[in-house]
Amino acid sequence: MILEPRSVIIPIASGKGGVGKSVFAASLAISLAGQGEEVVAVDLDLGGANLHTYLGLPNTNPGIGDFLKQRHDRLQDLLVPTAIDKLRFLPGDGKTPFMANISTQQRHKLLEQLKQLPARYVIVDLGAGSALNTMNLFGLTASGIMVTTMDTPALMNALVFLRNFMFANILSLAADHPPVKKMLLELYRRPANGTNLTVDEVYHRIAGHDPLLAREIREHCGRFSPRFVYNMADQAEDLRVAKKVSATLKKNISLTSSTLGLLFHDPAVRIAVRKNRVFLKDRPDTPYARGLAAIVARLQNPANNPAPHLENLISEARGHQA
Ligand SMILES: Nc1ncnc2c1ncn2[C@@H]1O[C@H](COP(=O)(O)OP(=O)(O)O)[C@@H](O)[C@H]1O
Ligand SMILES: [Mg+2]
Repeated sequence: MILEPRSVIIPIASGKGGVGKSVFAASLAISLAGQGEEVVAVDLDLGGANLHTYLGLPNTNPGIGDFLKQRHDRLQDLLVPTAIDKLRFLPGDGKTPFMANISTQQRHKLLEQLKQLPARYVIVDLGAGSALNTMNLFGLTASGIMVTTMDTPALMNALVFLRNFMFANILSLAADHPPVKKMLLELYRRPANGTNLTVDEVYHRIAGHDPLLAREIREHCGRFSPRFVYNMADQAEDLRVAKKVSATLKKNISLTSSTLGLLFHDPAVRIAVRKNRVFLKDRPDTPYARGLAAIVARLQNPANNPAPHLENLISEARGHQA
């Protein structure tokens, strides 16, 4: 039985590592808890779990690795209190490292229990890259968050992640239709020949076999709408890259995306991390913290905060700089 989530699940992904995903996940969790919401921060960067450091915690508690090894039956028993009121932490590898590969059955159990964690918000820090686990977890909600810097490699990897995410979703929706599945596997393996396979082309190919299935898949995948956070910006105008990103996503991947906001490169982040301090507690008013506050406001009340116009986001970001 598929259960509806009890909480708002916010998966946070990135194409590339080192873009500030875990710092953002921790800061978002701390910030939401500071608004009086019950929050659980989950480290699902299996193989590279380090969210605990950004929350000022040691890595000594059993975590998801132990859960997957059946040493613990219920995820919720593994929640660890933090020094921040209303914020609890669910460790990743914990005592059982190197769990990056998990079986379908384990994944299913994990997904179902994540949805039942007792909190208003469940913030999920994912590993970088397009591992199947990561893509499945990103698909827990229609609008997961992508964190990227404005560097070309990070942007490219973010696009590749979303492309793989869409291709994987399409394939799994065609799982019960062997001829379509076979056609898709061949199509995905096709050499690029200078032109990339677009999701729209994939839909058309499926329609050639089975128009009804093509419509279903298009409808299902059309619900996804990733939200971008641009990190380590030097200036507010850096955000202009968001226009290109959303146009590329629309054209190549048939995805509507939105921009949640911009975070400045802020030495205070690194200084707090080096000192093993919890960044937002240490320095509540910095350019990063101000950008984060704007993002949190939009997340908390999407109805009152529709995706703002890019120029408005840029002028908002200008106000966050020192
Ligand atoms: N906005 C920022 N300004 C300055 N340093 C940052 C910022 N965001 C992240 N960092 C630093 O970048 C490094 C990588 O961040 P992390 O969140 O661990 O990346 P990821 O989880 O994407 O691999 C950390 O040392 C962190 O302190
Ligand atoms: Mg990380």
